[in-house]
Amino acid sequence: MIEKNVAEILNSDALLQEVHLKGWVRTFRSNRFIALNDGSTIKNIQCVIDFENTDENILKRITTGASISVKGIIVESQGRGQTVEVQVSEIEVLGDSNPDEYPIQPKKHSFEFLRENAHLRMRTNTFSAVMRVRSKLSFAVHKYFQENGFNYVNTPIITGSDAEGAGEMFRVTSFEDNKAPVTEDGKIDYSKDFFGKETNLTVSGQLEAETFAMSLGKAYTFGPTFRAENSNTTRHLAEFWMIEPEVAFMNLDGNMDLAEDFIKSVINDILETCKDDLAFLDQRLTQEENSKPQAQRSEMSLLEKLKFVVDNNFKRVSYTEAIDILRNSKPNKKKKFQFPINEWGADLQSEHERFLVEKHFKCPVILFDYPANIKAFYMRLNDDGKTVRAMDVLFPGIGEIVGGSQREERYEVLVEKMKALDIPEEELWWYLDLRKYGTAEHSGFGLGFERLVQFVTGMSNIRDVIPFPRTPQNAEF
Ligand code: 4AD
Ligand code: MG
Repeated sequence: MIEKNVAEILNSDALLQEVHLKGWVRTFRSNRFIALNDGSTIKNIQCVIDFENTDENILKRITTGASISVKGIIVESQGRGQTVEVQVSEIEVLGDSNPDEYPIQPKKHSFEFLRENAHLRMRTNTFSAVMRVRSKLSFAVHKYFQENGFNYVNTPIITGSDAEGAGEMFRVTSFEDNKAPVTEDGKIDYSKDFFGKETNLTVSGQLEAETFAMSLGKAYTFGPTFRAENSNTTRHLAEFWMIEPEVAFMNLDGNMDLAEDFIKSVINDILETCKDDLAFLDQRLTQEENSKPQAQRSEMSLLEKLKFVVDNNFKRVSYTEAIDILRNSKPNKKKKFQFPINEWGADLQSEHERFLVEKHFKCPVILFDYPANIKAFYMRLNDDGKTVRAMDVLFPGIGEIVGGSQREERYEVLVEKMKALDIPEEELWWYLDLRKYGTAEHSGFGLGFERLVQFVTGMSNIRDVIPFPRTPQNAEF
């Protein structure tokens, strides 16, 4: 007898083979048909028991959520919905599940309810599909970079610098409550703290990744990232995973090519490796869309959207062109934007990004050459003296999925910029050294992994694509 998982059984045509499988009961009907799922696939396998010859006490214990072990033979199924089923000869209940208490009943639960039961929600079709896709997607990310000569680098999680200069950081300290030493002027004396300086959880691994680009040539990070922004949106997490490639001797055009090729390649990979899960998620989203008023429905199904992204060029548009489009747009003229666009220099909000992508261009857009003063200090200054070689990739339904730039490689220009922004040179002396010793043009970007998982799975809330979301007022599990 061979131990097999459900995916293996359904993918084989080993009729009459004896198998041993274990999993959790999804449903049990007519004292006879068990829909068994073991997480290996979105599909359940039907296990048919001979109830006349099964102990009544065992039958009672076959309830939704219980874990069971089943031995039997694979036979052609008489019922609809599956080609094969298991004719059970032996069944054992491994772990009972009280049907009156088990939260995951065989019915539709709201995503809010399932977030409160995040430890069990992977036992539902939707979340098991999302999490399998997430796993395959992270493999696809590594595969892409490894096959293209990039080195995986683990940048520190505890850092002393604020890479993005946004100041939205979680502090790391070993001072005990109310016992932090203070300096003469009443400030907390971090020189006496564990690291002898103020430290925080990283908001980006970019600055350290640059040291790898400037030595190994091509590097990428893929790690946890922390931001203490108090934004309760469907696209923000306080803890998320970011992918940050960084490449020496590459300019902004190369960076845009890389971002586009990378995104298309991993989506293509998932279209191949996650067919069953995507088919399920595609149907789920279509149902969700059909419950909306016609005008708000998406024109494309999930699979159509994924294929569209893979098959079409991203539209590359300068910030200046985008501002012109936005300024003259209908919603701007009719004062429909919460933040009206009046002049060049305005920071773009998600409503503007989504207008450009979803209404105007109707395809993924790469915006580049943003005003220097709305972007981070490390971006390369253009000859016009007012824009920088920044790029954001904007996606339908998501908004910004990638933020990146060509880096300022000129020592003097970077020092000037840091001075203007009050960034102490002593803190980033090592970053400046890269511009002192063998500097070269180089570029990179950061892609928010959860936003990519959102796009690929069609889930509308970012909290539903990470196992245990961390958001304001929420760190359960
Ligand atoms: O645009 P950001 O802030 O760029 C950086 O951190 C650069 N250092 C990246 C680089 O050039 N190496 O963040 C990059 C991406 C965003 O486009 C977004 O997809 C994601 O990270 N992101 C978040 N995702 C979830 N929750 C949040 N709070 C996020 N903040 C940014
Ligand atoms: Mg950004």
